[in-house]
Amino acid sequence: MAKKIAITNQKGGVGKTTVAINLAGALNQVGEDVLFVDLDPQGNATEGLGFTGEYDDASGPSLYDTLLSDQSTINDILVDHDELRLAPSNIEMFNAEPELITEMRNRERLDMALEQLDADPDYIIIDCPPWLGILTDSALLACDSIVVPGLAESTSTRAVEILFDQVDTIEENFDETIAVDAIAANRVENDGESDEMMTWFRETFEPAVPVYEIRKRVALKRAWSNGTSIFHHEEECDMGDVFLEMAEVVR
Ligand SMILES: Nc1ncnc2c1ncn2[C@@H]1O[C@H](COP(=O)(O)OP(=O)(O)OP(=O)(O)O)[C@@H](O)[C@H]1O
Ligand SMILES: [Mg+2]
Repeated sequence: MAKKIAITNQKGGVGKTTVAINLAGALNQVGEDVLFVDLDPQGNATEGLGFTGEYDDASGPSLYDTLLSDQSTINDILVDHDELRLAPSNIEMFNAEPELITEMRNRERLDMALEQLDADPDYIIIDCPPWLGILTDSALLACDSIVVPGLAESTSTRAVEILFDQVDTIEENFDETIAVDAIAANRVENDGESDEMMTWFRETFEPAVPVYEIRKRVALKRAWSNGTSIFHHEEECDMGDVFLEMAEVVR
């Protein structure tokens, strides 16, 4: 049975997709089979990993159909990337959330879709959208654990508190346990604000949950533009070791 990990924070632009792609890359690097689910209607991971055609094509079955119709399963939409197998997002995913509102068992749809998987990956990494709603809830409900990226900026504390309230709500309403595998403090720089935030992350979460420091690195951006994690990118990047450590912790 695959371990399912949701990379989530409803705050936008904190590094969910960057962490998701590089954690997936690190797991691949240590020999694990990874399925990556791009649950974000923006499709940043899908396009970043080189599947713009799949994102734009609204004619065939897509993740939207997987969640909203019983005509197709997740097996019909998977594509292969060097480092992982991808369930791509699709432009139609913007319709998923409004349409799921009136559906029965709407928050369970992703879990149900993943149960139909023919392949047997070691890990399923779910990249979440930047808002709290049915899609994020469905990732929380489907997953075994979460990894929470947060910017090393003072606006992050409130976002992280709100996210953990939602995790508590899902756990209570669905009688589920969601583990927190790691906090990824992202875009850390050498300044007072980063230092203050690192202290807040560490005091709030350690020792129960490890806090990783991901520094601001242009190599992370460039690897993404090249359609890979930093592990398949020609440029050296010292953040590789951080993602490998994170991979060991989630294993
Ligand atoms: N450590 C980093 N160093 C440099 N650039 C980074 C770093 N982390 C993220 N970025 C850049 O910041 C931007 C936002 O990151 P990313 O898309 O991963 O965040 P996100 O939380 O997934 O965003 P969204 O909420 O829109 O889904 C991207 O352009 C990404 O390349
Ligand atoms: Mg993203």
